[in-house]
Amino acid sequence: MAYFAEHHRIVESGALHLILESPHPLLLSRRIIESSSSSGGVVTAEVVRHFTRPTIGESRSAAPRNLEIPPTAASYALIAEGFTPVSGAAPMEAFERLFQSRFEALSRLLRGRPDLPNLRPIAELRRSEGVGSAIAMVRDVRQTAEKHHVIVRIEDASGTLEALVPRDSPVIRTTFLPDEVVGVRLMMPRERDRLARVDAVTRPDVPNVRQHTTSSRPCRVLFLSDLHIGSRSFLDGPWNALARFLAGGDARPELAREIEHVVIAGDLVDGIGIYPNQERDLAIHDVVEQYRELGRRLRELPGRLNIIVVPGNHDAVCPAEPQPALPEEIRSELPENVRSIANPSTFALEGVVIEAYHGRSFDDLIPALPGASYARPTEVMKRMLQMRHLAPIYGGRTPIAPLPRDGLVIDPAPEILVTGHAHTFGADRYKGVLLLNASTWQSETDYQRMRNISPVPAQAAVVDLRDLSLTRLDFSQGDLGEIGAPT
Ligand SMILES: [Fe+2]
Repeated sequence: MAYFAEHHRIVESGALHLILESPHPLLLSRRIIESSSSSGGVVTAEVVRHFTRPTIGESRSAAPRNLEIPPTAASYALIAEGFTPVSGAAPMEAFERLFQSRFEALSRLLRGRPDLPNLRPIAELRRSEGVGSAIAMVRDVRQTAEKHHVIVRIEDASGTLEALVPRDSPVIRTTFLPDEVVGVRLMMPRERDRLARVDAVTRPDVPNVRQHTTSSRPCRVLFLSDLHIGSRSFLDGPWNALARFLAGGDARPELAREIEHVVIAGDLVDGIGIYPNQERDLAIHDVVEQYRELGRRLRELPGRLNIIVVPGNHDAVCPAEPQPALPEEIRSELPENVRSIANPSTFALEGVVIEAYHGRSFDDLIPALPGASYARPTEVMKRMLQMRHLAPIYGGRTPIAPLPRDGLVIDPAPEILVTGHAHTFGADRYKGVLLLNASTWQSETDYQRMRNISPVPAQAAVVDLRDLSLTRLDFSQGDLGEIGAPT
């Protein structure tokens, strides 16, 4: 019900029953919301039946991969993979579809907000009405040379509009990012030669208040990232200490026993040719051999664990995001208890919704956001949640794949958002969402020193799914060291 409320839709009780009877209620709800054929206020039982009925003659290969439900571990359910198969359209058309998909998905969250009065397509905003609102994508932002006002150019499918943010307006503190979708309240001028003024900005954001699903039985998840297997700076000693801890042979065996799932947020191996002169930093020079070693390392962990991995920019898949899951020839090097899914992906463990994203877009967002740094990735993650998008900026350092559906939109809002890439440890909460940046198992490389990134390695985040409390474990000294207080 919270999911439908967020999308400004009402669900009939009969419809709700049908949804709750389905094996994956949230997945079904998302399909209903995403379908343009079911627009309108009320979700009826009839609408739900339409989505649960098997379609005769439906080709399996034509079904988007994100709607298929894989065999599940008892408490694991895949909600959506960011990656969808390529549409085969010409690149320009494909990008057009991608941005339309982003605009639609984020508009759904903004429509109906009380702080966007007189909401209209840009082409239909009336000067005579005084106040008007639009949902729009930011095209560009510039500052006027003399008075340092800001002019933001926004667009929707109907048109483009230049709007002024005066230097003395509170809105001047807003950093607009290119290609993000915002709601703007505008003061429309009567004079033809004057620009509309931006009065207020609304981002899609996550709801202020939300009931969070938690586990009713003891169950914990271990979050890791950026193993960089194959690098000469892979931290062998700390990894062995982690394996000892998980096997219950160390301090806190009661904690280790409750860990059922491991989530690894990308950069499983160091890869080859990722940055200049990387070969000097490699211990294993063959990428398949790196994954073979990853397989050996993961087999050192207890076989009972359900291990979920997403790729990162060092992994052997297409670097454009969303990235597909690891290909079969690499997957076959890994043990049976490893699930390889796309980057990003949304899944549920014991009903707790988790979004895992490697975090390549930090490379674009950190330079674009005043005060942002690799040392505090959770601040950037808050902005991702406000935008409900993981990587909005097109044409920067993060390559964006022209897929028909924008898989980088954050929907549904997760209970936990985990990233890596920054090679630091970060934990914070934003409107009830636990934000984690899940450290690294590689010590500092010359390349990172050059780029001013100082890693905080060998930290493991253990989250209790009963209450989303966090325990930080430090393996950097080659043994289970200081245990941070649960937060
Ligand atoms: Fe990395």
